[in-house]
Amino acid sequence: MRDNENGRVDNSRRTWLIATSVAGGVGGVATLVPFVGSLAPSEKAKAAGAPVEADISNLKPGEMMVVPWRGKPVWIVNRTDAMLEDVVKADPELADPHTLNPFSMPLPEYCNNEYRSRADHKNILVLVGICTHLGCSPSPRFSPGPQPNLPSDWPGGWLCPCHGSTFDLAGRVFKNKPAPQNLDVPRYMFVNATTLVIGKDESGEA
Ligand code: FES
Repeated sequence: MRDNENGRVDNSRRTWLIATSVAGGVGGVATLVPFVGSLAPSEKAKAAGAPVEADISNLKPGEMMVVPWRGKPVWIVNRTDAMLEDVVKADPELADPHTLNPFSMPLPEYCNNEYRSRADHKNILVLVGICTHLGCSPSPRFSPGPQPNLPSDWPGGWLCPCHGSTFDLAGRVFKNKPAPQNLDVPRYMFVNATTLVIGKDESGEA
């Protein structure tokens, strides 16, 4: 990553590049999911694994943004009402709908609900965007219905390009897929109506 003319790292560009690589999708087909930039942490904060802030003020309904945290992409999705309905519809097809067997971190108690999000911002989903099988980053396939490499009754979610695991719009893995567990939900909290902190909540840092 090149420094800009002020000698500082251009973090907004870094975030966009990560978003682009995540959006690449199966077979290099570009996704229709729009991405927006975000506030990015300082180099020092990232090196320390510190919590990072994300400005979601430009994140429109149906959009996803990516924030780097501890060297991993964290997805933030502003789900529409229709997407929340798709989460409910997906329940019977999921391997672990209630996340009884979390992956690398416990599901925060405030996300232990139908939508795996905070009740006062239930539309906002926060996930670690790393497949629980072998660590690829799944591609967003938010539109429901028939499409390549997905079932005809696809409710919307993510498809892992490596071995075909699929996840619903709450990051929960579908049955009979290589990925054994749901995507992780990190600790997070809102510091105001449009700013999230990833890696920290009311009980402290992750
Ligand atoms: S790494 Fe995602 S299915 Fe294998």
